Amino acid sequence: MTIENTMRINGGIPLNGTIKTQGAKNAALPVMAVCLLLRGQTLTLDNVPDLYDINTMIELLKALGVEIEINRDEKTSQVIFHVPEELKWEVSETLARKMRASSLVLGPLLANCGKVSLPLPGGCSIGSRPIDLHLKGLKQMGAEIEIQNGIVYAKIRGKLRGRRIYLDFPSVGATENLMMAASLASGETIIENIAREPEIDNLATTLRCIGVPVELEGTGGVRIQGIDKAHSGRDRVIPDRIEACTYMLAGVMTNGHIKIEDVVPSHIDAILAKLEESGAKFSVKKHVVEIFPSKRKLHPVSIKTMPYPGFPTDSQPQMAAALSIAKGVSTIEESVFQARFLYAQELNRMGADIQISRDIAIIRGVDKLQGAVVKATDLRAGAALIMAGLAAEGETIVEDMVHVWRGYEAIDKKLRALGAQVELI
Ligand code: UD1
Repeated sequence: MTIENTMRINGGIPLNGTIKTQGAKNAALPVMAVCLLLRGQTLTLDNVPDLYDINTMIELLKALGVEIEINRDEKTSQVIFHVPEELKWEVSETLARKMRASSLVLGPLLANCGKVSLPLPGGCSIGSRPIDLHLKGLKQMGAEIEIQNGIVYAKIRGKLRGRRIYLDFPSVGATENLMMAASLASGETIIENIAREPEIDNLATTLRCIGVPVELEGTGGVRIQGIDKAHSGRDRVIPDRIEACTYMLAGVMTNGHIKIEDVVPSHIDAILAKLEESGAKFSVKKHVVEIFPSKRKLHPVSIKTMPYPGFPTDSQPQMAAALSIAKGVSTIEESVFQARFLYAQELNRMGADIQISRDIAIIRGVDKLQGAVVKATDLRAGAALIMAGLAAEGETIVEDMVHVWRGYEAIDKKLRALGAQVELI
């Protein structure tokens, strides 16, 4: 795995060529945690991306006793989880603090082992990210939970109890944690007001593949029949919609001509709608999105991030980068996370004109961006700065690439395959 922490970009070159989307980071992390529902069996996952966060999850699962086999070559990206009869229940502090998604082991581990200790997780610096909804749901299912010195201690007597749970907010992580917990609970659990991100559908198919009856309801609910024992299973991770959109926007920003393969168009409807509104030229055919060069600058647009199927918060920094060279004033309102505009001052160093007023970014399109030395403040901010560097005149240095490696597999190689001049230093 790459460890270089700085990327040098020689900008101003239109991207050209074809790339294929990686497996989705945010789908892979929860479906990897599904293995914690097994005992003495195996979960096989295909299309698992090679990323820092995935490696952190692998290390975390290994530390809990899971044996992990990784089969990666040009065509395969498979990870097999061999789960012992008895799992450990104490999550390592160092690993838990490395990423927010470490909280995803709480539900399945508690349901399977009866107790868990989980240091409160870390993650990107994009705002306060509590796990109160995860804990509230687990308590409603009968878990006893205490937090002492930053560590969550959870235990159950017997089994978790299936019941009806209403989520106060459609949190992605809470939905996933509770779906996994409900899989080994007694009786039926119905969770209302769940997140409906495509990653939730992926989790549902993985739970089904180990024998859990899961029914997603169109009205924003899920019904899960708890089972006594799961069996071995195999599933595939869906394509990464956020990665696909990052490259699409990079194509648009550089006035390039690129094809992105292995995209599920229905997963990116909100972005396609905004691209269309902004006048970008593209076509969508089955699983391929093609971006065409255009003589016109983008029209400005107004965007508000929302839970799926709304505009994804994970794509707003990249969209802001693209709109920073549109013709006119765009606005982006962030309604999911509190501190997701840290990239703005970095883009402004490159000549962008972005003003932040509370949770709204006002983006006045400029003619051109110029290369500069900038810092990736979080994962998607890093992606936005790379895109800006690709479109800017001259040389851009993106520091703190460590954030980018959390979510973008081989971004340097993929960009070079599209003709970009980028190198890791
Ligand atoms: C997941 C994604 C992340 C994405 C986000 C929203 C993974 C690994 N990460 O994060 O990339 O940006 O969905 O699409 O899948 N909240 C609470 N209490 C809780 C849980 C959440 O207040 O118990 C709040 C959060 O602080 C945040 C909002 O709800 O403001 C959304 O969080 P959530 O949907 O849980 O996101 P994650 O699962 O952390």
